[in-house]
Amino acid sequence: MKKLLVATGALAACATSLVGWQVHAETNRVQFPELDELVHYTTVRRGNVVEHIMTTPAAIEAVKSGQPIPADTHFVLVDHRDGELYRYFVMQKGEGFGTEYDESRRTADWQFQWFWPDRSINMDENTARCQSCHRSQEGSDYLFTGYRIPRFNGTPVE
Ligand code: HEC
Repeated sequence: MKKLLVATGALAACATSLVGWQVHAETNRVQFPELDELVHYTTVRRGNVVEHIMTTPAAIEAVKSGQPIPADTHFVLVDHRDGELYRYFVMQKGEGFGTEYDESRRTADWQFQWFWPDRSINMDENTARCQSCHRSQEGSDYLFTGYRIPRFNGTPVE
C-alpha cells in the first residue's frame, strides 16, 4: 500500500509538468460517453446525495436476457450533491481493456474514471481504488446496481 502511494505521488508530480499526462499515466481508455444515448435505469438516494445511474440500451437488453454485457458499454453514475451536479463516475468495458492491468487489480475488461462537471478528469484519483471496491461485485460483472436492471420498465428503479 505504501509503495502504491509513493508511485501515485510520483505520477501526480509528473502531471504538473506534462501536458496530456492523463492520457498516458494509467493507460486509461475511458472516454466520456454521449449521455443522451444512455438510459437512466436507477436512482440511489443517500442524505444530500442523489445518483442517477445509466447505461446503453444494448447493455440493458443483455442483462434482461441473461447475456454478458457487450464491449463498448458505458455505465455512468451522475452524482448530485444538494441538487447540484458534483461529478460523473464512469465505467467502460472495451475489448482488451483488462490486459492493461495486473491481475491483482483487473476488473475483467472494465476501466474506471472520475470526471468533473466540465468533463475534465480528476487527476488526484487513482482508479485502482474504484477497481478494488468494484471487485467485490465480480459475480455481477463488477456492477453494484446491475441487479436492478431486470426490474426496469422505463421508470428509474428506486
Ligand atoms: C468503497 C466502494 C466504492 C468505490 C471506491 C467506488 N465505487 Fe462505484 N459504486 C459503489 C457502490 C456501492 C455503487 C452503487 C451505488 C451506490 O450505492 O451509491 C457504485 C456504483 C457505481 C457505478 C454505477 C454502476 C454500478 O456498479 O452500479 C459506477 C459507474 C461507478 N460506481 C464508478 C466508480 C468509479 C469511477 C469509481 C472511482 C472513481 C468508483 N466507482 C469507486 C462502490 C464503490
